Amino acid sequence: MSSQSPNFITDSSLLPKHIAIIMDGNGRWAQSRGKARMFGHKAGVDAVKKTVSAANRLGIQVLTLFAFSSENWRRSEEEVRLLMELFVTVLGREIKQLHKNSVRLKVIGDTSRFSNSLQDKIASAEALTANNIGLILNVAANYGGQWDILQAMQKLASQVERGVLSAEQLTEAKISAQLTTGHVPDVDLMIRTSGECRISNFMLWQVAYAELYFTEQFWPDFNEASLTDAIAWYLNRERRFGCTGEQIQALLPVKK
Ligand code: FPP
Repeated sequence: MSSQSPNFITDSSLLPKHIAIIMDGNGRWAQSRGKARMFGHKAGVDAVKKTVSAANRLGIQVLTLFAFSSENWRRSEEEVRLLMELFVTVLGREIKQLHKNSVRLKVIGDTSRFSNSLQDKIASAEALTANNIGLILNVAANYGGQWDILQAMQKLASQVERGVLSAEQLTEAKISAQLTTGHVPDVDLMIRTSGECRISNFMLWQVAYAELYFTEQFWPDFNEASLTDAIAWYLNRERRFGCTGEQIQALLPVKK
């Protein structure tokens, strides 16, 4: 797949509105260099910075990054502790720059298990950037797709219990609105690095119609060219939502 300049995009309405990324391969990237896994996570932060900045410049509306899954607690105590420290450091260091670039940060996931200091940092970073109108950056931390659906159903079940809603009034849109991603549209393009071809309990509901892009690159090697390659691939897909190709063709703006 060749690398393309962002200039190939001539109609921004065709761009994916919501891109989600499973950032995988930090550990293997480090180990292939004879280094500790943490070296890979630190290099992964640089890839996050490059990707956020490229997505913002391209005018992508929403970027959701899978930073820490509900299952990642199973890693060694040392790796979990160092990852948490890295999140605190990165948040503290990068939030001003994100704010300056009008990025709106939202952490999605069950953050109640994080340290108080990390929870405070998250809350103040979200508050600082809440009114920004640029890229919406969702960082999924202690996130699981099944957990997200469960917490949405618990909120709706409690509305039913209180008689605010009847079971018959439940709709897909009401479930979507209660997910942690209720503030953004569903995913258009899901990217996973490192050659693994799994969704790994990432946004299960929200990827219903997403195009799934898998690349062999390890996450620390991911950069602007990797993102534009993925977008170029996406633009060449025929997205049909169960319609025929002719129906979709009829919706496209006439080529000049
Ligand atoms: C997966 O690689 C990566 C993670 C579990 C952590 C991702 C974290 C970062 C990129 C750093 C900080 C991010 C933010 C948003 C501040 P892996 O360890 O599973 O790699 P492996 O499959 O090669 O072992």
